[in-house]
Amino acid sequence: MSDNEERWQVVRRRKGRKSETSQVSPDSTSPQEPLDVRSMINRIRVLMCEIRCEDFWGKWREQFLNSGPSAVSPPAKDGDAGRHDDGEASQLWECVCYGLGSFSSSVSSRYQLAMLLLLLDTIQIAVRDCSIYDPVFTSGEINVLRELGLTVLTENEEGKRLATRPTVFYLMHCGKALYNNLLWKNWSKQCLPLIKIIGNSFDNIKQRSLARHLKQDYSYISQAVCLCQERQLPCPSDMNGIFNDTAVITFEANVLDSLPQSTWEDPPEPEYQHCPKLEIIRREN
Ligand SMILES: C[S@@+](CC[C@H](N)C(=O)[O-])C[C@H]1O[C@@H](n2cnc3c(N)ncnc32)[C@H](O)[C@@H]1O
Repeated sequence: MSDNEERWQVVRRRKGRKSETSQVSPDSTSPQEPLDVRSMINRIRVLMCEIRCEDFWGKWREQFLNSGPSAVSPPAKDGDAGRHDDGEASQLWECVCYGLGSFSSSVSSRYQLAMLLLLLDTIQIAVRDCSIYDPVFTSGEINVLRELGLTVLTENEEGKRLATRPTVFYLMHCGKALYNNLLWKNWSKQCLPLIKIIGNSFDNIKQRSLARHLKQDYSYISQAVCLCQERQLPCPSDMNGIFNDTAVITFEANVLDSLPQSTWEDPPEPEYQHCPKLEIIRREN
């Protein structure tokens, strides 16, 4: 079955899917079968070509390049994924991808991986400067990612990654705690402007949540909704469940500067004591 046919199945199967539900859809290789690295890479490359031909890709590309204070200039043209670019832009930017999901068994994750590679190429981040982690990755999937040139993290950071240079965080349909942890770790006037999140719209998270719960359990998302700039990314109806509910989220230094200093003082680490069903997998201590 081609990925295109699978895509239609996903649309039918995922109609009405909420973005933060757990997901494993056995729509491709069975986990018992060894993964053919070459053929999986070819499938991903085919999906990259497919996305490039879609109208929505042009809009994603444009929105992404133009969004936020750290807007980057577009390169001359799209190149191949896996290319190591040593240009100026690649020295400046890095990327971190959490929560991609099992791309050998999920067509959504495969499309999202293809999109990640296209984005890296577009903003000229060298693939080796993209770190990627999902606790569900199989050893075969890790081989595929390494073969593509990506840096596979071996530790569960729970999203608590400090940005020391401009960083794109690619978190497609991830649990709220991952976003909340990421915001907590970067909760300062200096760090927030360095991060650009491609992930679930914070506005939509707010609308789907009880204000009281969001404030208590995910206080950094709750505060960030009012501070961030959010640009919705379009999603064609046949890719609903793959690229729906996605936005580019950035923070402008002048907005953060206008807040009282107390906003930034001693931000407590999230603990999630009151969350019976946490949507992320935590580090084993
Ligand atoms: C709802 S699924 C989304 C999967 C895929 N992106 C999609 O849209 O179908 C959330 C993903 O987050 C991953 N995840 C959970 N805890 C994580 C953690 N601590 N770090 C990175 N990824 C995590 C899960 O394994 C799962 O693949």
